[in-house]
Amino acid sequence: MTKHTESEKTASMHNIDMELIEMTLDVMKYAIHRITSTSLEMGSPKKEEELRRLVGETVTDTGIGGENAFQLFKDVLIKATVPIDHPRHLAFVPAAPTRAAIMFDLVTAASSIHGAYWMEGAGGIFCENEAMKWLVSLTGLPKPAFGVFTSGGTAANLSALVAAREYWRKNPEHQNIKGLIITSVGAHSSVKAMAKVIDVDLMLVETEDAMSGQALQGILKTLDIQQRKRLFAVVATGGTTNAGIIDDLSGIAEICETEKLWFHVDAAYGGGALAADSVRHLFNGIERADSITIDPHKWLFSPYDCGAVIYKDPQLAREAHSQEGSYLDIFKDEGAHGFNPSDYQIQLTRRVRGMPLWFSLAMHGTDKYKWAVEQGISLANLAGRLISENPVVELVREPSLSCVLYRRKGWTPDDYRDWTYKNQREGFALVTPTKWKQGDTYETVARFCFINPDTTEEDIVAILGTMG
Ligand SMILES: Cc1ncc(COP(=O)(O)O)c(C=O)c1O
Repeated sequence: MTKHTESEKTASMHNIDMELIEMTLDVMKYAIHRITSTSLEMGSPKKEEELRRLVGETVTDTGIGGENAFQLFKDVLIKATVPIDHPRHLAFVPAAPTRAAIMFDLVTAASSIHGAYWMEGAGGIFCENEAMKWLVSLTGLPKPAFGVFTSGGTAANLSALVAAREYWRKNPEHQNIKGLIITSVGAHSSVKAMAKVIDVDLMLVETEDAMSGQALQGILKTLDIQQRKRLFAVVATGGTTNAGIIDDLSGIAEICETEKLWFHVDAAYGGGALAADSVRHLFNGIERADSITIDPHKWLFSPYDCGAVIYKDPQLAREAHSQEGSYLDIFKDEGAHGFNPSDYQIQLTRRVRGMPLWFSLAMHGTDKYKWAVEQGISLANLAGRLISENPVVELVREPSLSCVLYRRKGWTPDDYRDWTYKNQREGFALVTPTKWKQGDTYETVARFCFINPDTTEEDIVAILGTMG
């Protein structure tokens, strides 16, 4: 064994010394301040050269010191980011992690738990599974449905599609042919990207509005024998990213059952609304899905990154994802018996990323989650009313879930772009334009997506006010 000299030992970065203790206090002070802050600075990006000029070289042979690096982070780098939980961040799909969940994210990091296998991570995986039980109950999927937390919606969609493809490949006739999936234009880009990853073809139902069972039936009728043989899955969306639209899940489920197709529902954004009594009926049919994506880091108030994939028959996912290796055999041994999250999605080593959600659920109870999700829906309806009453703007379509599409009368795409940048530059708001198809043309319009229950009517009025 190598003997370390005294000076080598004191130089080790795994030592506990005064500098480390002071750093720990500084970091905790920062975290407490950020967690309890009610007035966040919007922040905006700077060019890379500018950031480099401001912070200099930070990774050097001997290090620049924790205090120094942390100061640069606080003075410069954090200011070049937009806090996703700012109440006037209404772009893309924002987030608003609960303070309890953020605190427990710190605890999760500090606890160094390997979340792949029960043998190492049992206590943490137990917490994740408690949260997962609630998620599964929201879907109405019957036993033995269960799921695992993933790095996000993309990884959840990929994991589900791999499970679907492997199930289809069990038929020897399907072993040497390329698979085919049907989804709609309104499906998220990640579905299309993951189809590329697994090298399957994609057919799109030509609508950004709700994909109906009828439209799916229509496209099925156009398939030739070879295409029909290659078709193995239909991906419906439970809340489109652009407009919060929910496909006709019952109609699609019916067809998938008759045609023996895997039915995946991407509810990465909309899935949180399964907890909201006011809109739950819109998701009817989701309980017939083979797999479902729900992202707690979107509308279930978890810190990044936390997605989830749920399977009607987890055994099929296990057959698709379970990794083999002599070094892994022990995890599968009776003695280490338990639920191994790595068997059900694409990742091996994983953080127990469902723990912050579990803690927040345990602390607050599920009723508060229902209330917070309903709040996003109420804000969207309120924005719809405010837009209808404002003469310079008009709704493009009625609000759906927590998304609102509206136009500023007379504006060009450049006007929307300049308005977005101006609001961000001034540290006021982040609201970005999108496109919506009207007839054969795409119109640039403004879009709100509400997640944060702390967004107020005054925020919405003030943002509309910036449109002149
Ligand atoms: C419907 C839908 N699916 C999938 C994704 C991808 O999720 P992630 O960015 O967590 O990978 C998103 C992201 O906005 C989404 O809205």
